[in-house]
Amino acid sequence: MRFHISAFTMDEKIRLLAGRSDNWHTEDFGGKLPSVFMSDGPIGLRTPVYSEKGEELYDSPAVAYPDGQVLSQTWDPTLAYEMGTLLADDCVEKGVDVLLGPGVNIKRDPICGRNFEYFSEDPYVSGVFGREYIRGLQDNHISATLKHYCCNNLEYGRLWVSSEVDERTLREVYVRPFEIAMEAKPHTVMSSYNAVNGVKVSQHKKLNDLLRNTLGFDGLLMSDWGAVVDHAASVKSGVDLEMPYSQAGYEQLKAAVESGEVTEAEIDACVRRVLDLVELCQENRPKRSIKTTADHRRKASQRIAEEGIVLLKNNGVLPLKADARVSISGGAATDYICGAGSSRVRLQDKAPTLKSCLEQVMPGAVFTHDSRYSFVCSPWDCVPDEAIGKDAALVCVGTEDSEGGDRPCGATAASGIRLPEVMEELILRTARLNPNTVVVLYCGAAIDMTRWIDKVAGVVWAGYCGEWGQKAVANILSGKVNPSGKLTETFPLDETYTSAAQCYRDSMVNVYSDGLLVGYRWHDMQKFLDRPSGVQFPFGHGLSYSQFTYSDLEIDKQADKVLVRFQITNTSSVDGKEAAQVYIRHIRSKVFHPKKELKAFQKVFVPASGRAEVEIELTKDAFSYYSVATDGWSIETGECEILIAASAEDIRLSNIIQL
Ligand code: GLC
Repeated sequence: MRFHISAFTMDEKIRLLAGRSDNWHTEDFGGKLPSVFMSDGPIGLRTPVYSEKGEELYDSPAVAYPDGQVLSQTWDPTLAYEMGTLLADDCVEKGVDVLLGPGVNIKRDPICGRNFEYFSEDPYVSGVFGREYIRGLQDNHISATLKHYCCNNLEYGRLWVSSEVDERTLREVYVRPFEIAMEAKPHTVMSSYNAVNGVKVSQHKKLNDLLRNTLGFDGLLMSDWGAVVDHAASVKSGVDLEMPYSQAGYEQLKAAVESGEVTEAEIDACVRRVLDLVELCQENRPKRSIKTTADHRRKASQRIAEEGIVLLKNNGVLPLKADARVSISGGAATDYICGAGSSRVRLQDKAPTLKSCLEQVMPGAVFTHDSRYSFVCSPWDCVPDEAIGKDAALVCVGTEDSEGGDRPCGATAASGIRLPEVMEELILRTARLNPNTVVVLYCGAAIDMTRWIDKVAGVVWAGYCGEWGQKAVANILSGKVNPSGKLTETFPLDETYTSAAQCYRDSMVNVYSDGLLVGYRWHDMQKFLDRPSGVQFPFGHGLSYSQFTYSDLEIDKQADKVLVRFQITNTSSVDGKEAAQVYIRHIRSKVFHPKKELKAFQKVFVPASGRAEVEIELTKDAFSYYSVATDGWSIETGECEILIAASAEDIRLSNIIQL
């Protein structure tokens, strides 16, 4: 059914440009038109349960999926599509029209408390995973919200701090994920809290014009919750919907219309897009159906976790022997660790413990859970003697990262991006008692492992792996699943070895003077300049129980694309999967480029002692840079090296082509 602007009075139109008086619906004027129901979050539904008086009592339980970090560490965008379809079922069950996700903000700084929700430090990985996630949702008639547009890369001062970014960096790094994800035609975009170059994004006409006129976004642009400080300026900049409703915003806008500061045409442009979303959701409702049970979704979320958990270090202690005697300690072995803030999910039931999951998959082994040491005991009474004499000692620890704050997080946190000291002590004391100590980490972003990494035999990076994540961890520790996840952010030695740490910031501005050199691009440049690059584990790093070799690189340069072919051989006796990365490096270029940039990737199954042929297509986007001189994307002729890699610091094959 079509809703015509002319059917509404001016006052109704003004009212329509903010949510209903609750947090999650658009205005419906008491049923004059349908209301759109939107809900968090990117890694599981957080729909409110209301009292008779309409107060939000609590979040209704839902399936908790692995976070954006673990999803992208699968290096398999089809799993992002699948996660979108699973979340669509959750939404259909709860009558949600719009899911407020995915978040594609660049992980510029590991101290950011919200990195767990996002995908990567790399714009291509971030954009591809956001795009497929949106497709999975919208192919099932649930609208996605691509967020937070843009440059919201820290939680400190997010409501006002200005991200100061140059034009080329904006286009190639921070807006790029939104541009790639735009291929999925998201029905809505959420603008961010912060300012960019001194102007609040919630009233940034230049950025909103870029979104609509250059990136081609034609859906509804909503504010982040409480991000609008001047509703009139916000409407004039093209933000259609202030969320949630604010009386001040309504009065501001009403006064601005009466004074003529905001024209009827500006009001109507936004009203049209609100009505378009209302109509779209009304058309989509009858098309929706539930395709899976909740347990199917939990099993699928476990499978995604199995593909995204990263084996960082293994001196041979893993996989565990079938008859191993193993001690388990650390609070994360029992408590479901996930990020906090708007993406939190209330579980239907308590998540299974690691011990119960291990006992299920390793009936011949013996596990003792040393529950004396959780997150809060003082380091000094830590004597994990249960670890003595065991075949392996598992220490399960993590950080409780959260939206709204940056790290260190949690009451017992140590400095910077270290684990809380009590956890470091538990690791160190266990390692002194058992050389086969394996640390299982449940964290939202890179941590500083320097105090203990050389003293342990193995490290498994579980991230926030979702409701059945412990099943996934158990399957990897037991060897039932061969780990294939790889990092999508650089793990620096500590928080000083990052591009962000070199930039000026204070309580009002955050200067992105690192420019294009974010993440591995910055670490590459340090190495090129013979400076310490401070990498603990590089972008793209992840071990397997298999070993892979790369060979037979062929490059076929055609008129409008470059085809790259190579072979991967699995030299082990264990079937495995390998995420191969393709970087490009401009040689003797006339404009500045990072030393290498990821432009494609593919994860392939390679059978034991077998081979897989990989073919990857590089389009002109892979060779383009944003030219501020000509205000457009440009390709530079000259030599360009194609690098095939297992990680940013493990180049396996390369060849040079002439562009
Ligand atoms: C929050 C978040 C946003 C979320 C919204 C609704 O502050 O920044 O991602 O969707 O408000 O909870």
